[in-house]
Amino acid sequence: MTNPGGDKSKEIQTLIQNMEAFNEVTAQLQNSYDELQGRVKQLDLELSDKNDELEKNLAEKERVKNYLNDILESQTNGVIVVDRAGIITTYNKTAGVLTGIKPQGCLGKTLNEVFPLFEPVVARLGKNRGETISQDKDIPSANGGTLHVRVSASPVWDNHGGQIGTILILQDMTEFRKMEELAQRNQRLREMGEMAAGIAHEIRNPLGSIELFASLLKKDLEGDTEKENLVQHIRAGVQNMDRIISTLLLFAKSAQPSRQQCDINQLLTECLEGIGNARVPENIKVIRKSGQGTLLANGDRELLRQVFPNLINNAIQAMPDGGELSLITQKSSVPNQSPEKGSATRQYISVTVADNGVGMSADNLAKIFNPFFTTKDKGTGLGLAISHNIIKAHQGTIDAVSEEGKGTSFTVKIPSWDENFDEK
Ligand SMILES: Nc1ncnc2c1ncn2[C@@H]1O[C@H](COP(=O)(O)OP(=O)(O)OP(=O)(O)O)[C@@H](O)[C@H]1O
Ligand SMILES: [Mg+2]
Repeated sequence: MTNPGGDKSKEIQTLIQNMEAFNEVTAQLQNSYDELQGRVKQLDLELSDKNDELEKNLAEKERVKNYLNDILESQTNGVIVVDRAGIITTYNKTAGVLTGIKPQGCLGKTLNEVFPLFEPVVARLGKNRGETISQDKDIPSANGGTLHVRVSASPVWDNHGGQIGTILILQDMTEFRKMEELAQRNQRLREMGEMAAGIAHEIRNPLGSIELFASLLKKDLEGDTEKENLVQHIRAGVQNMDRIISTLLLFAKSAQPSRQQCDINQLLTECLEGIGNARVPENIKVIRKSGQGTLLANGDRELLRQVFPNLINNAIQAMPDGGELSLITQKSSVPNQSPEKGSATRQYISVTVADNGVGMSADNLAKIFNPFFTTKDKGTGLGLAISHNIIKAHQGTIDAVSEEGKGTSFTVKIPSWDENFDEK
C-alpha cells in the first residue's frame, strides 16, 4: 500500500535538512566574509599607517634637502661639485656671482668645458681622504674686471668609502690681496723712509759747508761779476738740493696729525685758489660735486694742505692740452676692522680728485707711492709718497685707479669728525 502522506513528509524533511545545510554554509560564508572584512580593515589601517610613515619620510627628506640647499646657497664661498666623470652636478649661487656664469650654463657639462682653469687643481688631487689642493687663480669677473679666487678641491666620498666626485670651493681673495699689497706698500715705504732720512742727514752737513764756503767765496769775489755769477750758480744748486732734502725729510718724518674740524670743501677751495701753488690753467674746467651739508673731516689742516694741492697739480700736469678736473666730496662708511672699538661701520669723508688726462700704465700705477718715482723732468717723485704718509697718519686711505689715455682718479678717505669728535 502506498503512503503518499509519508513521501511528502520525507520530502519536507529533506528540504529542511537542505535548508539547514544551506543556512550553515551561509553562516560560515558570513563568518568568513566578516573575517575577511576585518582583515581588510586591518590591512587598510596598516596601509594608512605605512602611508603616513612614508609621507612623513618624504616630508623629512624634503626638509633635509631644503635645509642642505639653504646652507649651500647661503655660503659666501662658491661651491661646485663634479661627479666621477667630471660632470658638474651642483653649483651654488655664489659660484654664479663669482664666475658670472649661470647654473644653466654649466650644470650637466664637464668642468673642463666650462672652467678649464680649474681643471689642473682637480688633476693634482690624489686619492687620499681629507686631502685638499688649493691654487690661486685670476678669473674674469662678472663686471669685466679680474677676480682673484682661491680654488680648493677635495674628493667627495660615499658611505662605503668610494669616491663619488670632487668638491671645489671658490673663495674671493680680491680684498685679501688688496690688504696684502697695502701692507707690503706700507712696509716698503717705511723702509725707504728710514733710508731716505739717513741719506738726507748725511748730505745736509756737507751741503751746509758748500753753502758756507760759496758765500765766503762770493764775498771775496765782490766786483768780479762773471765769477760772482758762477758762485751764485753753485749757491742756487745748493739751495735746490736743500729744498729736496727738506721734502725728503718731510716724507721720512712720521707725521703726527692734530685733530681739528676740517671743512673739506673749504680746504679744497683754498687749494684751488692758489694756496699750495695749485693754479688752474684756463683750458681746464673744474667740476665740483659735494654731498649734503658741511663735510667735516677729523684732521690736521696744515698737513692736509700738502696732500690736495699735490693731487690737483698732478691732475693738471696730466692734462697738458686741457680737460676736466673733478673734485667730488661725500660722506662714506666702511666696515670697522675692529668692531669692538665702536660701531660696525666707520664714517669717512671721501675726496675724489679725477682728471681725464694721460693716465698711467698698470706698471707705473703700482709705483706711484714710491719715493722718487717720477715721470716728470722737474718732479721730485715725493708728492704722492708724502701724501700717502700723511693720509696713513690720519688712519685714512688713499687709492688710485687709472687708465692710459683716459685719465686717473685718486680717492682719499679721512675719518669724519662726526664719528670721532668725542675722542677729543
Ligand atoms: N693724475 C695723474 N695722472 C697721471 N700720472 C700721474 C698722476 N698723478 C701722479 N702721476 C704719476 O705719478 C708720479 C709720481 O707723482 P708724485 O706726485 O709723487 O711726483 P711728481 O708729481 O712726479 O713730482 P712732484 O710731486 O715733486 O712734482 C708722477 O710723476 C706721474 O707719473
Ligand atoms: Mg706731484
